Amino acid sequence: MQLRELHRARNQCLNLGAVEIRKRVQRDIARGLAGFAAGKNGAIVRAMSPTRADCEALDREDALAHFRDRFALPEGVVYLDGNSLGPLPKAAPVRVAEVVQDEWGHDLIRSWNTHDWIGMSARVGDKIGRLIGAGPDETIAADSTSINLYKALSAALALRPERRTILSERGNFPTDLYMAQGLVAQLGNGYRLALVAPDAVANAIDCDTAAVLLTHVHYVTGRVHDMAAVTAAAHAKGALTIWDLCHTAGAMPVDLNAARADFAVGCGYKWLNGGPGAPAFLYVAKRHQGAARPALSGWLGHADPFAFAQDYAPAPGIGRFVVGTPPILSLAALEVGVDLMLEASLPALYDKAMRQFDLFRSLMDKRLAGRGFALVSVAGPGGRGSEIGYAHEEGWPIMRALIARGIIGDFRAPNVLRFGIAPLYQRYTEIWDAVEGLRAIMDERLWDRAEYRARPIVT
Ligand SMILES: Cc1ncc(COP(=O)(O)O)c(C=O)c1O
Repeated sequence: MQLRELHRARNQCLNLGAVEIRKRVQRDIARGLAGFAAGKNGAIVRAMSPTRADCEALDREDALAHFRDRFALPEGVVYLDGNSLGPLPKAAPVRVAEVVQDEWGHDLIRSWNTHDWIGMSARVGDKIGRLIGAGPDETIAADSTSINLYKALSAALALRPERRTILSERGNFPTDLYMAQGLVAQLGNGYRLALVAPDAVANAIDCDTAAVLLTHVHYVTGRVHDMAAVTAAAHAKGALTIWDLCHTAGAMPVDLNAARADFAVGCGYKWLNGGPGAPAFLYVAKRHQGAARPALSGWLGHADPFAFAQDYAPAPGIGRFVVGTPPILSLAALEVGVDLMLEASLPALYDKAMRQFDLFRSLMDKRLAGRGFALVSVAGPGGRGSEIGYAHEEGWPIMRALIARGIIGDFRAPNVLRFGIAPLYQRYTEIWDAVEGLRAIMDERLWDRAEYRARPIVT
């Protein structure tokens, strides 16, 4: 069977309801085979040698292909870094210009009411909530992920006052660990951050664990934690969970309510395509909202901000986690990205991402064998996110040479070339072109130039 026939068969699957697709995706993950590569299809993909013509056919038959035109992607660029900064939705500058000119420029301060600026954190938060399995009034769009981590961690510790441990995994994203370190230093009084290997987290939860802090999809390996299982293990010991969804929200289906997750945070500028420095989000399960008292008790989280009372009284629901005046222009841009994401079906997107992952991997195995690349992404049981990483001892200059060629991925220390696969706009031919670009760079030793050794601040 040809690759395109397999793809057609998979597309039939896309005509199924979202619930059925999700079931299939979950079943595939459980089998450790994932999406397109499931069962004998996977063996065929790995055994065969896809050509560029196969990839063109896959693009023609891609049920999600029309979304690409909604983005302003520059000509001649293969963008594989939407897991760091999502590209510009074409509607974003239009919407931001409207907010600037009509709302700010004309309606001025009246816009807080007439254009519901005051409700934007909640409105955009609720929309994000639909992508992560949150119910209404459980999510706000606000602040940065780091700040939201602080809010969630401090609230969780306060809900378990007799406990002293925040439990996380070694290799977690630095800001998660740094925010926890800062908080325990601030609190003193025996608070500590305990780190264990990723697989050891569930067993390490004990009666002193107040909060389990994990990144659902790991930022380098794409490894996925079993949210429901870890949350259940935490709850069995009386602990709470805080999930970092930076590499999950907009990249793969997740169901916070079904998993009974307690808190979650995540980025707006990655998979949600909200723009550089877009507001992040914070989810607090409804059942905790009444008891969780925010450590950052700002005036806009007050029950009645415009009463200008001297004493803080938290707003009744998730609104208490809003701190100060929200960045309206950034929220407007983020809302465009989130609306676009809501038009697509996340299980269908994830299904395509997994097929593109397998295509990438298959091409790397066949066309770059023996050039020193080692897959660091998890491809087996436990699932994987929407990104693929390869370690190489010359990873940094290779990525610089690739970017100079218009193929944009990124580099994660110490030696990983990381590629985000964003099925909302990614073409199969781009996967082909990226791997071929890499092949040329290796075969012609293009990476070995002094100019590619220099390191700017952002990698
Ligand atoms: C897992 C994870 N958490 C948090 C962040 C960043 O947080 P912030 O938006 O506060 O810089 C990132 C950014 O790459 C991330 O990958």
